[in-house]
Amino acid sequence: MTRILHVYSSLFGANAELARLVEAALEPTGCEVRSRRVREVALAEDVQPSATKDDLATADDLAWADGFIISSPSHTGLLSASIKAFIDENHDAAVAGAYLNTTFTAMATSAFAHAGQERVVDDLNAAGAAWGCVLVPPSTADPTMNKLDGNPYGLSFVLEHGKIPDADTAAEVLSAHLTRFVAVTEALAPLRSADKSAVPPVPPKNIPPSAADVFS
Ligand SMILES: Cc1cc2nc3c(=O)[nH]c(=O)nc-3n(C[C@H](O)[C@H](O)[C@H](O)COP(=O)(O)O)c2cc1C
Repeated sequence: MTRILHVYSSLFGANAELARLVEAALEPTGCEVRSRRVREVALAEDVQPSATKDDLATADDLAWADGFIISSPSHTGLLSASIKAFIDENHDAAVAGAYLNTTFTAMATSAFAHAGQERVVDDLNAAGAAWGCVLVPPSTADPTMNKLDGNPYGLSFVLEHGKIPDADTAAEVLSAHLTRFVAVTEALAPLRSADKSAVPPVPPKNIPPSAADVFS
C-alpha cells in the first residue's frame, strides 16, 4: 500500500486543519497516511492547542514514506523556521540517498494573498529537489487547481480568520491534486524499492540548544 507522509509546521492550527483535509482527500485513494507536525523551534510559546493534534515527525516517518507532502505557513514571507530546521536535521539521510524518487508536493498557508505563499512553496520545492525527490506540483494543466487562487508550484491557501477558506472548494482542489500525487507515487514504486534497499538508516541531527554549543 502506498504510504504518504504529511509534515507540517503550525502555530495557530491552520496547517493542522489542513492535515485533516489532506487525510480526507487521500482516503478514497486507499493509501496509508501519516500526519506529523514538526517541533516548533521559533515562537514555541505561541503554539495553540489546536496545532498539537499530531505526533512529531521523525526520521522513521521519512524513511517509511513513498511520498512527502510538506506544508508551511508563510512567516515574514518565508517558510517557517521550524520546517527549515526539520529539513536540515534530516540532511544526512538525504545525502545518503534515502529520499531518492520519493514524490514531493509543497503547500503553503498565509494570512494575506501575495504575502509569501509562492516563495514558501518554491523554497520547499528546492528542498525536495535537493533531496532527490520527484516534484509533483499542481501545475496549470487542471483548472480545478485555480479555484482558490493558489499557484501552480504548490497548493496554497489564503486564510480567513486563521482558517482554511471555503472547505468544500479546498476539499475539491486537494482531492484533484492528491489523487494525481498518489498515482505518480505509485507509478514510481519500482524505482524507490531499488533505492531504499541500497540505503542504510541515517539518524537525524538535532539542532543544538544554543549557539554556544556550536562554537565550544
Ligand atoms: C512570525 C509570523 C510572520 C508572519 N508573516 C506573514 C507574512 O509575511 N505574510 C502572511 O500572509 N502571513 C504571515 N503570517 C501569518 C501566517 O502565515 C499564518 O498565521 C499561518 O499561515 C497560519 O498557519 P498556522 O495556523 O498553521 O500556524 C505570519 C505569522 C507569524 C506568526
